[in-house]
Amino acid sequence: MMKFYITTPLYYVNGNPHIGHSYTNIACDALARYRRFRGDEVLFTTGTDEHGQKIKEAADAKGMEPSKFVDNVVPRFKALWKKLNISYDDFIRTTEKRHGEVVKKLLEMFYKNGDLYEGEYSGWYCTPCESFWTGTQLVDGNCPDCKRPVEHIKEKNFFFRISKYQKWLIDYIDSHEDFILPKIRRNEVLSFLKMPLNDLCISRPRNRLSWGIDIPFSKDHVTYVWFDALINYITVCGYGYDPAKFKKFWPADVHMIGKDILRMHAINWPIMLHAAGLEPPRRIFAHGWWKMGGAKMSKSKGNIIDPVEMVDRFGVDAYRFFLLREVPFGVDGSFSEEALISRINSDLANDLGNLLHRTLSMIDKYFSGKVPKRRSLKYVDEVTRNLVDKAKGLGPEITSAMDRINFSQAIAAIWVLVNTANKFIEQKAPWRLSKENKTQELQDMMYDLYEVLRIVSVSLWPFLPMTSEEMTRQLGLGETKKRSPKDLSWGLAKSGTKINKGKPLFPRIES
Ligand code: MSP
Repeated sequence: MMKFYITTPLYYVNGNPHIGHSYTNIACDALARYRRFRGDEVLFTTGTDEHGQKIKEAADAKGMEPSKFVDNVVPRFKALWKKLNISYDDFIRTTEKRHGEVVKKLLEMFYKNGDLYEGEYSGWYCTPCESFWTGTQLVDGNCPDCKRPVEHIKEKNFFFRISKYQKWLIDYIDSHEDFILPKIRRNEVLSFLKMPLNDLCISRPRNRLSWGIDIPFSKDHVTYVWFDALINYITVCGYGYDPAKFKKFWPADVHMIGKDILRMHAINWPIMLHAAGLEPPRRIFAHGWWKMGGAKMSKSKGNIIDPVEMVDRFGVDAYRFFLLREVPFGVDGSFSEEALISRINSDLANDLGNLLHRTLSMIDKYFSGKVPKRRSLKYVDEVTRNLVDKAKGLGPEITSAMDRINFSQAIAAIWVLVNTANKFIEQKAPWRLSKENKTQELQDMMYDLYEVLRIVSVSLWPFLPMTSEEMTRQLGLGETKKRSPKDLSWGLAKSGTKINKGKPLFPRIES
């Protein structure tokens, strides 16, 4: 049994969760479910990033204590993950005691080792991004990332000697080709590393911002929010308090992030780990953004898509399907209701829904709702051979796509089988076989269609868990037990199984 440790970023709790947050969690969920299906022991973690200036300002705006404010927002994230069927194993809040202790332990270690020093910070700060910038990095005087105004700061702080480890990091990235994915992001990091790194400011003076983790060796400072938040990835798998768990799960197999937080994850974090004598994560995958009319969605632009509304209107699996299928993972996508409705109508209602409904209707009509017996596979024509081969090849295709974290390709492979089966029905014309009393041929073909649907239901599990379960129910396969790649083998369907034809999986949406 292999272990597989996958993490999402910790989401800022200054507002409600939006489509961008749901995207990362749905992607991680699909990968976590897929690895469990393969038999791995999975640790899948998510959580919330609750310190820092941005959260303090959001709490102030509501006239609330930050701790009360965050306690109010966190349940909204948890409720969304439940609604989206996110199967995380642990949810970490950076305000938890277990986390504060690990952060302090690391700070003390770095301080003792001489990796931290006190100095004066003079530069610019972007609160929405919680990022420090130098004057030369600003674009037209604004934050180079979000283009919003920055404020000038001059104050005593602690710095982490990140520059000391720059050469180590470059060598590490050079010798680990899949460490940062996709390639374009790896190149972006390497080109950034051509310039000398500025040491990292890791504290905030308490008299200006007290909403952070105490710094054990300075009562005048608290920890900078990003320095605290990255450490969650080792806290949540046991660092410092559960050595057996930590040994089993660290290093993380995938840190899934959006491309806007690449530098923090691919530069600062591996260096922090290296300085602490720990291994870097195995892989950092930075996905693209969902945009609306060409612009990144953000609260300030007011072009946010509310995942709760989408799920209530279109259903959880339709929403999951759209996000995972519409664009190759890694590139930007453009969100629109028209595109979502078109995917639902074509791929889900037409292709998949129809295949299930037609097949079960025919099994009802021709064989009183029982899966018929098939002759041996010696009796196949070319059309059937093509269908069976595609079904047999699906498992390896999904493995190859998922090993490259390519959800859209894995799903596309399932749809090749679905569409081959739809074509198979047209080519074999079962209504004619019935009319001509070719009963054995009709039995064979209904068995084959049923078997394709069973295999599709198994392979959909990581992506569309509810649909997979509903198909299993309609196929008469009872309770969903733990599935494994063995369930993708051809010929496991038992003749005589009583089907339970139900409502169409995805009704067409009239726009
Ligand atoms: N708190 C930090 C992460 C700390 S991880 C130790 C943070 N939080 S965030 O809430 O602002 O964003 C979390 C994630 O959501 C990021 O990976 C970001 O890329 C992603 N998204 C936010 N908006 C997005 C889109 N419009 N589209 C896709 N993902 C985007 O950053």
